[in-house]
Amino acid sequence: MSIGCVRGTRDLFGAELEQWQRAEDVFRTVSAAFGYQEFRTPIIEHTELFARGVGEHTDIVGKEMYTFLDRGGDSITLRPEMTAPIVRAAIEHSLVRHAPVTRLWYMGPLFRYERPQKGRYRQFHQYGAECLGSAEPEADAEIIILAHDVIRKVGVQRVELRLNTLGSPSARAAYREALVAYLEQHVDQLSEESTRRLHTNPLRVLDSKDERDRPVVASAPRLTDYLDDESTSHFRAVCSMLDAAGIAYTVDPLMVRGLDYYSHTVFEFVTDALGTQNAVCGGGRYDPLFSMLGGGNVPAVGFSIGIERLLMLLEVEQGGWAEPKGVDVYLCSIGPAAVLPGSLIALRLRRSGVTVATDLLRRSAKAQFKEANRLRATFTVTLGDDELAAGTVVVKNMQTGEQQTIASGELDRFVLAAR
Ligand code: HAM
Repeated sequence: MSIGCVRGTRDLFGAELEQWQRAEDVFRTVSAAFGYQEFRTPIIEHTELFARGVGEHTDIVGKEMYTFLDRGGDSITLRPEMTAPIVRAAIEHSLVRHAPVTRLWYMGPLFRYERPQKGRYRQFHQYGAECLGSAEPEADAEIIILAHDVIRKVGVQRVELRLNTLGSPSARAAYREALVAYLEQHVDQLSEESTRRLHTNPLRVLDSKDERDRPVVASAPRLTDYLDDESTSHFRAVCSMLDAAGIAYTVDPLMVRGLDYYSHTVFEFVTDALGTQNAVCGGGRYDPLFSMLGGGNVPAVGFSIGIERLLMLLEVEQGGWAEPKGVDVYLCSIGPAAVLPGSLIALRLRRSGVTVATDLLRRSAKAQFKEANRLRATFTVTLGDDELAAGTVVVKNMQTGEQQTIASGELDRFVLAAR
């Protein structure tokens, strides 16, 4: 029996991969325009980083991590998200001490043991950015606008920005107490999942998708009623900066996000085009995280975009991937004597920046022309015994069918000029 890829993982190639590469170029250029620098962290981290940073009672830590003991007996986890690793690295390298505002972006694979379905994988990829060191609302606005601009520049339109505030840690703690007291009174009406979360992660009951929880949630105390003045004015400032930048949003008072490190602003870009996996991007302010990881008091805000979902959405909006770009030249060597000179011509062209495909199977001219069509070559260059004797090649423009014989030494200039 042949071996397939692991459930919830996928191979990337062809036209789809070409879209990824285009999106990756957008991530790089837009991040740079906003003054963010790339950061790469290892794929494995100490398990404790996520237990402490993301939270013991979150879905991610409670049931989704790929955790194992390595041969030395250390508990290691494949990273399920990037914010805790970035903060770990920022503490380890004293980044914020050297640059009081540290702007970082990243891109790479993450691992969560979730039930795979459309838009949800066990290995998925995120592009994200984290702004470390500022507690001011302009940092929140900058991060949200960066996420917005990246999504738009990739070409995706069908997303809506949802925004909420969780307030300061003390406002949130007071609210949590009131919410638990209320939910305890209605525990008989709650789903099993929400009953389980009642004492571990009660705010998650608010964004439960279970119909049974809806009536209870509808009459639950509102976080907005527990916000202190500072939290309210921070949130208002973020909103008015988004207004000024012309970024549309909806305030969603029930959005709480699934990770423990948030405070104040939280946001998501959601779509109605991908079924239940509707979040393309999630983020927010996470002022408590540095101190949760022993890094002192450093405010921070950031986001992560799910690249699979972003590109699925692009595909839905564009009605499928465009064909990948073809090669510039297919070099067709006919007969054994042409193999080596043909490969040297190909090498010369490649070194001058032309993309060239060659045969390698010593096939007939007919089979090679068929291959040139399949690879959507712009030109097919043929080299047979006659051309070898004359020091020429035959160049065929595959679009017009026009064919001409030119000196072999002229080929590079000819192809480069025609591109
Ligand atoms: P998150 O909401 O867990 O946040 O993930 C962000 C995005 O990653 C989601 O909106 C979704 O597009 C994508 N995603 C998550 N899980 C999967 C999956 N199993 N398959 C496919 N895509 C997935 C975070 O990860 C936070 N670190 C965001 C953040 C950054 N907050 C502050 N800074």
